[in-house]
Amino acid sequence: MKGGKFVAVGFSGILVVAVVIGVVAVQKSSSSGDSNKGDVLSTTSKSVSAICSPTDHQQACVDSLSAVANNQSATPKDFLQAALQYTVSAVKVALSNTTAIGNAANDPLNKMAVEDCKELLQYAIDELQASFSMVGDSSLHTMNDREAELLNWLSAVYSYQQTCVDGFTQADLQKAMSDGLLNATRLTENALSIVSSISQILAAFNIPLINTTSITNASSQQRRLLEAYDETAGGTDQYPTWLSAADRKLLARASPSSNIRPNAVVAKDGSGQFRTIAAALAAYPKNLQGRYVIYVKAGIYDEYITVEKNQVNVFMYGDGPRKTMVTGRKSNAGGVSTFKTASFS
Ligand SMILES: *[C@@H]1O[C@H](CO)[C@@H](O)[C@H](O)[C@H]1NC(C)=O
Ligand SMILES: *[C@@H]1O[C@H](CO)[C@@H](O)[C@H](O)[C@H]1NC(C)=O
Ligand SMILES: *[C@@H]1O[C@H](CO)[C@@H](O)[C@H](O)[C@H]1NC(C)=O
Ligand SMILES: *[C@@H]1O[C@H](CO)[C@@H](O)[C@H](O)[C@H]1NC(C)=O
Ligand SMILES: *[C@@H]1O[C@H](CO)[C@@H](O)[C@H](O)[C@H]1NC(C)=O
Repeated sequence: MKGGKFVAVGFSGILVVAVVIGVVAVQKSSSSGDSNKGDVLSTTSKSVSAICSPTDHQQACVDSLSAVANNQSATPKDFLQAALQYTVSAVKVALSNTTAIGNAANDPLNKMAVEDCKELLQYAIDELQASFSMVGDSSLHTMNDREAELLNWLSAVYSYQQTCVDGFTQADLQKAMSDGLLNATRLTENALSIVSSISQILAAFNIPLINTTSITNASSQQRRLLEAYDETAGGTDQYPTWLSAADRKLLARASPSSNIRPNAVVAKDGSGQFRTIAAALAAYPKNLQGRYVIYVKAGIYDEYITVEKNQVNVFMYGDGPRKTMVTGRKSNAGGVSTFKTASFS
């Protein structure tokens, strides 16, 4: 596929553009962990050690597992759920202090940033709780199949927090928010690391994995179709690993020259139905069945994009990494850019 490839795929309530950035940002910060890595785990149980060894903030990880650490029958599901629950608590602490921090806001932009934070952190809590439920509903033996989806959700959680902090132009407020979110951010990074290592963790717990690729029915057929596609397209590595098979196939068809029909075309030059991504999102039909496909033509879009919770099936693609870009937020001229630069590859 040439030109338009991956942009962003929204699952329920995820800030789609932020998802991509989240993954990148987490990877970048992964070298700045606790300095005494290793020491922390020398006094913990084998289980806690197995869960926490891939994390960057090991003391925080050990603390987050205290509720289940002494349970000899606890499974990796219990540990992961404990870690997620602890993260929810940390975000709630930060959220509850947001109003107090906001009292020192002395202009409309920073007052707005406070309100944004409240909304974003609530989204983060919702997403964490959804992740908690997903882990609870998964079978232990196929939990690794949930890795991609969990990473997607947790990346969004991470992005919500970053976006909240980035919204402030007042340095004292930004620092207060960032400090207030420090625990939550570390725990989210830890959860991402744990989920990324889920296969190794399950192996450490001697949990036999069901090899879903060898099951011969519809789902494996879908996989084969996908593999066939990937071969013709020159390999699998052009998509993030967390992308579902269905979305990969949709992406495969979503190029400007293909016959996929976007529901909305956004073009800065006025050649589409909308000039802004926000306007295209606002036109999301209520009670839509299926994907709402938005094609964003080449251009730099200085926008603050929020995909609302009820816009469950948004799918966006652009003209290529250096052609379609999203920067900026609201009308914050020259200030902090919330979404850094989201490029539509
Ligand atoms: C320990 O973990 C097992 C397995 O998940 C669970 O059934 C049990 O209720 C837990 N025990 C306690 C005291 O939490
Ligand atoms: C962060 O976690 C530490 C250790 O659990 C705790 O002492 C501290 O109060 C927490 N900070 C916030 C802002 O919640
Ligand atoms: C809450 O915010 C206030 C004001 O910025 C700050 O002094 C205090 O340390 C914060 N508390 C927590 C738990 O983050
Ligand atoms: C799963 O099964 C397939 C086909 O039988 C095999 O090629 C693959 O190596 C197996 N994967 C694992 C992790 O065992
Ligand atoms: C796939 O195979 C499993 C095991 O044979 C079966 O339980 C499941 O219903 C099948 N799924 C589909 C979609 O056919």
